[in-house]
Amino acid sequence: MTSQIVAAAAESQLPLWIKLSPNTPELVDVARAAVAAGASALVLVNTVLGLIIDIEKRRPALGNVGGGLSGAGIFPVALRAVYECHAALPDTPIVGVGGVSNGDDAIAMVMAGASAVEVGTATFANPRAPWLVAREAARWMQRHSISSVEELRGAAHG
Ligand SMILES: Cc1cc2nc3c(=O)[nH]c(=O)nc-3n(C[C@H](O)[C@H](O)[C@H](O)COP(=O)(O)O)c2cc1C
Repeated sequence: MTSQIVAAAAESQLPLWIKLSPNTPELVDVARAAVAAGASALVLVNTVLGLIIDIEKRRPALGNVGGGLSGAGIFPVALRAVYECHAALPDTPIVGVGGVSNGDDAIAMVMAGASAVEVGTATFANPRAPWLVAREAARWMQRHSISSVEELRGAAHG
């Protein structure tokens, strides 16, 4: 299905950044299918399936029953997704997203294989979060004499 959707979108000839769900044990296969069908980049990851229950009502609290979990708690899930997809598809640019809240998280995402990092839920707590993350990451790079993100990309893979 991923292959069909991406191939249809690729008809547009526009750059295609394909956002994938982490809610599958076959993420790497899905990512491979997206790239083979014409994805120019991967955006990893969307929210993680979750559920909350209102214990007084004894019912799921969300209208849709389940929902998407985002924020700091999903950072390790997102990091692993980026790591595994970069290992399988080292030439494909990856945007790392999921729970990134500070500069260290952004640096870890790049070390896992991301070329860029996105900040989502952290902006609800602090609208300046993306700027703070970028500044902290830049300071980390300065302290370690790293001049470009590309130098660090995939560094955790040895
Ligand atoms: C309120 C909300 C709305 C979202 N809407 C979309 C959407 O329309 N399309 C999409 O691809 N991802 C959507 N996401 C997922 C985010 O882009 C992101 O992949 C996810 O929240 C993990 O990153 P974060 O922990 O930094 O928020 C949404 C997330 C939240 C919390």
